[in-house]
This record gives sequence, C-alpha cells and structure tokens, in this order.
Amino acid sequence: MKILGIESSCDETAAAVVVDGYRLLSNVVASSADLHVQYGGVVPEIAARNHIEVILPVVQEALEQAQCTWADIDGIAVTYGAGLSGSLLIGVMTARTLAITHNKPLYAINHVLAHVYANFLTETSLPGFKMRATQPAFPMLAIIVSGGHSQLALFENHFDYRLLGQTQDDAIGEAFDKVAKILGLPYPGGPSVEKAAQNGDADVYKLPKAKMPGYDFSFSGLKTAVLRLAQAEIGESYDFPSTKLAARLSDSQKVNIAASFQHTALQTIVDKAAQAYEEFSPESVVIAGGVAASGGLRAELSERIPIPIEYPDFKLCTDNGAMVATLGCFTVLTDQPPADPYSLGIEPNLSM
Ligand code: KG4
Ligand code: ZN
Repeated sequence: MKILGIESSCDETAAAVVVDGYRLLSNVVASSADLHVQYGGVVPEIAARNHIEVILPVVQEALEQAQCTWADIDGIAVTYGAGLSGSLLIGVMTARTLAITHNKPLYAINHVLAHVYANFLTETSLPGFKMRATQPAFPMLAIIVSGGHSQLALFENHFDYRLLGQTQDDAIGEAFDKVAKILGLPYPGGPSVEKAAQNGDADVYKLPKAKMPGYDFSFSGLKTAVLRLAQAEIGESYDFPSTKLAARLSDSQKVNIAASFQHTALQTIVDKAAQAYEEFSPESVVIAGGVAASGGLRAELSERIPIPIEYPDFKLCTDNGAMVATLGCFTVLTDQPPADPYSLGIEPNLSM
C-alpha cells in the first residue's frame, strides 16, 4: 500500500510517498523559512502564498522521486490541523482536488500525531537518511516538542493514547524562537540558540524552572526571565525594548544566556519525561517534533532514562510529508474510515 502524504500546516510545503507505514520512497520539502527570516518569525500570509506557488510541483516531485504514477498511489493523506489557517487550507484543498480527480481515498491527518509517527519509518533507499532500526514497541511514551506543542503522551497502541500533560502557555520551540529574537539570533531560533549555546557556559546565569502540577509544562515564565536577565545585564530597567537588546549584549553574554536558557528549557522536559518513564515503565520512549532535532535534548534524555531514546532522522523531525504519509498508512491498516473529499475542512486548533 502506497500513501502520498501532503503537509502544509506552517511554512514547509511537503509531500512524500510511504509504503505500508515503514518504507520511505520519497521526501520533498520546500520551505519558505528564508522568506520569513527578515521578520523573525513566520508571516502567515507569506507562508500561504508560497504554498500555493509550490504545492503542485512538490507533489509531482514526490511522485517522481518515488518512481510512481497516480495509478500506483492507494490513498492521499493530508494534514488538516493543527496549524495556520491559510497554510492548512492550501494543503487540504489541494489534497481534496487530487483525491477527487484521481479517484483516491482521502485521509485527514492530525499534525501533532503525525510527528510521533515519523518514528515508525525504518527503511529507505533515499540517500542521506539514518533510519530507525525497528518500529517503537507499545506501550510507547511520546515526548512531543515542536514550535506549537509540548506534550507527553502514553500510547497503548495505534490511536489508543492518552495525554499525560502539556504546556499551559508557550510551546518549547516557541520559547527557543523568542529567546533567539531577544539575542538577535536568526530564525528559526532552535538551531541558532543550540549553536550559540555550544560556545556558552550554562552555569553563568541561573534561570528559574517552572514548577507545574503533574506532567504539565510552562515556558512563558522562562522566556520572560531571559528578557529580564538581558535587560539587567546591560544595566537597563524592565521597560527597555526587547528589540534593542541584541545590539547592546556582548557576544559572551549572548552565548551564556543561550546556554542557560537551553539547559533550563530542556531540563523542564527531561524531568517530566523521566518521571513518566518511572511511573508507566513504557517499552519505548520516542521524541517527536522540531525540537527533537536538539542534540542537547537527546543527550540529556539518554542520561536520565535507562532504555535507548528513539528519534527520527533529523530531516524527519521538522515538518515533512513522510510523517503524514506514515500516519495515513496506519489509518488504513487500522481500518479507519477515509474523509469526504467534498467536505473535509481545516481545524487550526486541533489537539491530540
Ligand atoms: O515541528 P516543527 O518543524 O514545526 C511545528 O509543528 O511547530 O518545529 C519547529 C520548531 C521551531 O520552534 C524550532 O525553533 C524548533 O522546532 N527547533 C529546535 C531545533 N531545531 C528546530 N529547537 C531546539 N533545538 C533545535 N536544534
Ligand atoms: Zn510540526
């Protein structure tokens, strides 16, 4: 069974073909990230307009890379939430149209859940991918950390999961992006904060870790603490504008703040993940979402959790069509009904 996955929830336009939920035949991602750099974050209008321009060529390239024609495709999976409305609409309308014109079943995919399913890909002949050796076993603890989500979920089986906890304010990736802005580091913030932190010392500044009940998280207090720290370091008061901070901070102040922030933010996730591991003794622990690309997160989790921490190839951590196609395969394999190609809508605030 070959499923074409289409993803357009944020600033990546992506398509991929996956066989039976484990074999990746193609993976095409066109990002408009470069167009957003000058604004320090994704501009929804620009992202949506860019999706319109590239989505059909991206789908075409995904089919060609997979050496497939439409006749080989058994179904189309598309992200219908969560995400930016304008961006989601382009993917969903494109997938609906393709499903109708090529007479294929259409599967509606939850973006956050799809991130988890990037962990089920184990084979590819595409160059440059380090694939997982095996699919994760159930029960599976999923640590979902992206620009829009920070969640811990316990999966007993496919589509049988419960949310243990989630962020009550900002997502961890969002905090990385905002801290990068304060420090004058380029968008997206995660990789640039990680790079800066490598040259910094996390012990120079002590930032507060939010104490949240159960398995919930909070990152907005940490973000504000970084802002206050930066203002204090240059001898200014709380009303000094954040946009002017970067020009006044020295390089060593920047890298040390980046290191302290990264350490505190990652510890927040790692503490709760280790606690969940002890309480539920899962067979596998997976990380998913853009922040799963963080080398620091992987290293700190490995120190605290006794079983191997599993994660997808770096290119499959950030938004992509492969994860959407993989979850589409499991939707079919578990006999779930397809969506109506004449009426599928978007759900920008879809939760898990
Ligand atoms: O999953 P994703 O591509 O998009 C969403 O669904 O949100 O995640 C993007 C997020 C951004 O906030 C980005 O800064 C963060 O993932 N990110 C990282 C790293 N690489 C990407 N955060 C920390 N360290 C990284 N190396
Ligand atoms: Zn994502």
